[in-house]
Amino acid sequence: MNIENYTSYAALSKAVAEAMIAAIKNKKDALICVATGNTPIGAYQQFVLDVQATGLDISKVRFVGLDEWLNLAPENIGTCYQFLHNYLFNPLQIPQHQYKLFNGLAKDMKAECSAMNEYLDLEGPIDLLLLGIGMNGHLGFNEPGTPWHYRSHAINLSETTQVVGQQYFNAPMELKKGITLGPADLVRSKKILLMANGIHKQTIVKRLLEEEPGIDLPASLLKNLNHVHLMTDLTV
Ligand code: GLP
Repeated sequence: MNIENYTSYAALSKAVAEAMIAAIKNKKDALICVATGNTPIGAYQQFVLDVQATGLDISKVRFVGLDEWLNLAPENIGTCYQFLHNYLFNPLQIPQHQYKLFNGLAKDMKAECSAMNEYLDLEGPIDLLLLGIGMNGHLGFNEPGTPWHYRSHAINLSETTQVVGQQYFNAPMELKKGITLGPADLVRSKKILLMANGIHKQTIVKRLLEEEPGIDLPASLLKNLNHVHLMTDLTV
């Protein structure tokens, strides 16, 4: 894991946006996996501005969503569906055939996971994976304890994730379950940017840097990989 320090959130966001643009310039139909949450907002805003300013051709780019809350209608403000539409797909008018997202309302979760795995088998591997880190070290919804050979799966969310997740919604929500790409597909990505921003992430980033890799700290999966960049505005 390479550590890249940035002096501000704006600088970090700019660097992530540049990496997205570089991936597309390198491969017109790059497959980019996009996380949600507060961390990547600046990067997505910068990416949108840069694409609009330069006219970069993104008509072949493919986006895949990292995860989703289960049992919430997509129009809920805090869903990954809504987030990605607000920050990326709507501003850039990206049509549906260019993105693949989990359906958090799917009746058959096994089938939903198989469909995502088939998509990745056909369209993958991911060229650029953008990740945040959860307060408990989760990646997407790969919570502590998730075996690293797992592919897409539905999961019971930890207490921490259920509480922290309330911030994305404008009313209290039941956030008991999620669906996520699994560790096995994440590590197969050609380039991985793990973003950590803000002082509230200091403790988990410190753990990541100090602890031996193990499933209790999902982000530690990335520690021994050369194609991972920890991008942070924290002093680490
Ligand atoms: C959320 C999402 C993750 C995200 C993480 C960090 O629960 N499932 O994909 O990366 O937690 O979120 P934030 O960037 O808001 O701290």
